Amino acid sequence: MTEMIHVEAQDKQAEKINLHDEFKAEVHAGLSKPRKQLSSKFFYDEIGSDLFNRITRHPDYYLTQCELDILNTHKNEIAELINSRAFNLVELGPGEGIKTKILLNNLLNHQANFTYTPIDISTAYLQELSTKIENEIKGISVAPIHGDYFHGLNWLKTHSNKKNVVLFLGSSIGNFDLIATQHFLKHLWQVLNKQDEVILGFDLRKDIKILLRAYDDDQGITKQFNLNLLRRINDELGANFNIKQFQHYATYNVYTGAMESYLLSKIKQKVDIAACQQSYLFDALEPIHMEYSHKYLLSQIEELAKESGFAIVKHFFDKKQFFVDTLWRKE
Ligand code: AVJ
Repeated sequence: MTEMIHVEAQDKQAEKINLHDEFKAEVHAGLSKPRKQLSSKFFYDEIGSDLFNRITRHPDYYLTQCELDILNTHKNEIAELINSRAFNLVELGPGEGIKTKILLNNLLNHQANFTYTPIDISTAYLQELSTKIENEIKGISVAPIHGDYFHGLNWLKTHSNKKNVVLFLGSSIGNFDLIATQHFLKHLWQVLNKQDEVILGFDLRKDIKILLRAYDDDQGITKQFNLNLLRRINDELGANFNIKQFQHYATYNVYTGAMESYLLSKIKQKVDIAACQQSYLFDALEPIHMEYSHKYLLSQIEELAKESGFAIVKHFFDKKQFFVDTLWRKE
């Protein structure tokens, strides 16, 4: 690995304290609202990430299978379209690397001149992923950036004159609502250079029964994934959530096109969070909103590209047309 770039403070202790304070403040704010909520961005501690990886291997969660199908089917065409000159293949929030490896191997087969640059806020995770990729893919050049997405992209804008191709796969964008998505895409456009490209994974609207199954799988892994955030609050903020007294509930909002996940309090109860020096009251059946997973129409995706200043190069679909990886260029 060429040396890891740090665009964030490197002081491990300070980093830990900041993350802990942010977690505490957001949990308190979310549970103090008339409609209680917790942010899905806190799902991914070690246990949460493991649970998420298990979800992606469960047949009910079709998204990962579909995106693997897309990448396997269209990898050659994708490689030909992005392989114009030397480039940085930048990945925002890389997962386990299974999907990425398909692209990396194929680009090497095409003799592409590129560096793989995952951007992530966890140094440990970046280290592990980079080592794994380097061990498994001979001849790959990996240059990870430790920091948040836009700080990382800004670093590239000021330190690299190669083309950037930014991957944001897996429908990660689906967690944002429409306004946040528009904002994210405008920001992405701003930090990129002319002719830079992005490949974004969007989950498409489909039969509601299929959606409901994907977010409430028959092995209860998704349920555990949601409940894990309460366990995390217990462990890290000294809370006394009785996990058994909360129920996972996933529903589809036909107006916004989003899957919405909730935890419902089974009974009227009080939960104390030591770190917040506060108690929180729950009515029987009171919900905590946990996550949005937005599903898109192709026309909405095209509108998003247009209004944020990107030209659509090509949409890549899986066989069932459940999912799309769309390639855009900054013009
Ligand atoms: C990682 C945000 C794409 O919303 O589908 C999986 C997370 N939540 N099952 C999604 C998730 C419940 C996932 N993303």
